[in-house]
Amino acid sequence: MNAHPTPAPGPTVVPAAPAAPTSPIVPAQTAAPAASAIPDFLAPVFAQYPLPVVGAEGVWLITRDGRRILDLYGGHAVAALGYGHPIWTRALIDQARAVSFQSNAVPMDVRLRAAQRLIRFSGLDFNSVFFVNSGAEANENALKMAFTITHRTHIAAIEHSFHGRTAAAGAVTWGAAGKWYGFPRTPFDVSFIPRRDHAAIAQQVGEHTAAVLVEPVQGVGGAFDLGAPFLQALRARCDQVGALLIFDEVQCGMGRVGEPFAAKLYGVQPDMITTAKALGAGFPCAALLMSPRVSAAVKLDALGTTFGGGPMACAVIEAVIEAIESGHLLEQVREASELIRSRCLVGPVTAHQGAGLLVGLRTSRPAKQVHAALLERDILAGTSADPNILRLLPPFVLQAAHVERLRDALLDIGA
Ligand SMILES: Cc1ncc(COP(=O)(O)O)c(C=O)c1O
Repeated sequence: MNAHPTPAPGPTVVPAAPAAPTSPIVPAQTAAPAASAIPDFLAPVFAQYPLPVVGAEGVWLITRDGRRILDLYGGHAVAALGYGHPIWTRALIDQARAVSFQSNAVPMDVRLRAAQRLIRFSGLDFNSVFFVNSGAEANENALKMAFTITHRTHIAAIEHSFHGRTAAAGAVTWGAAGKWYGFPRTPFDVSFIPRRDHAAIAQQVGEHTAAVLVEPVQGVGGAFDLGAPFLQALRARCDQVGALLIFDEVQCGMGRVGEPFAAKLYGVQPDMITTAKALGAGFPCAALLMSPRVSAAVKLDALGTTFGGGPMACAVIEAVIEAIESGHLLEQVREASELIRSRCLVGPVTAHQGAGLLVGLRTSRPAKQVHAALLERDILAGTSADPNILRLLPPFVLQAAHVERLRDALLDIGA
């Protein structure tokens, strides 16, 4: 199974040669020939949507044959600002012209600004940031810090979690062992707590537990909101036994829940937050935010990376926060979320769950079918590990008219 279940089973499809552009909105690169005559050489690990995308603007994807697709999935929650946002684009161009790369061995103002801006944006009690490249890598480093601090050997995670594909992140991902884990053994002891099961917390989190790793709002698991009482109970138990609490906000962080982080939404201060996806809004980057207790344990050379904290990534991180703040996008997320919940309980949708713009729409028939029917109507949604949850992860710039388009499509699909 792929990390992100996709609805189109079967092998990777090389799109057919392009038709002549049919619409003035189709960018010039559509004139370039598709690589139809030679093998694609891509490792065949991803099922793909039947959707050869050649351009994008705002919340729209533009296909080779000129279709405009409303993107309610954002490339697995990445495209938080939509496509071609002027602040994001400007920052990349300017930084590419100034200094495209220097490692962490070289001090750079842009890196300092990104770290300061991210800590300030979080509004939480963190005092250092370690920049890396991907969500899994951020989680690996968070776990490493937890083991370093506690000298313990066990991690508690939550059932239906997803934390990434690397050895440590996969070890704490629900169901990975039976599907794709691939390593001969996990590098530490792991147990899983059922979602919202308060009674199980004390059983699974004890004196041997280095950390609890939790997505406050599960993404791949089906836009499932674990809720303040459960998260508070995890915090209390961690404090009781001296374990660390790590929030994996790779998918739900950076404004997606209508607050900078879900930790803020639920009023729970974790010891660490990992975040990625919307952090770069299309430029690959990730971060580990650390509380004073964790920061105090970071020693010279304890963590490392070549690309993490590169100037392009840092310029983008600064720009993403600027775009969110100056564009009042947290408010827009809350409004759009409310609209989806109030207007889109129609057709095959029977209920909703999740938080902000990490929305799960429960469907009366398999979500894959609804997904396919939406795509026929030029709307791209997502699915999840829950076969009856259609997962929406739209850009924060989503507007009422886009929500109405989704509503119309759902009505057209029917119950
Ligand atoms: C909650 C969560 N954590 C970690 C990851 C892994 O991130 P990456 O694919 O950047 O390694 C993902 C990816 O979907 C995720 O949703």
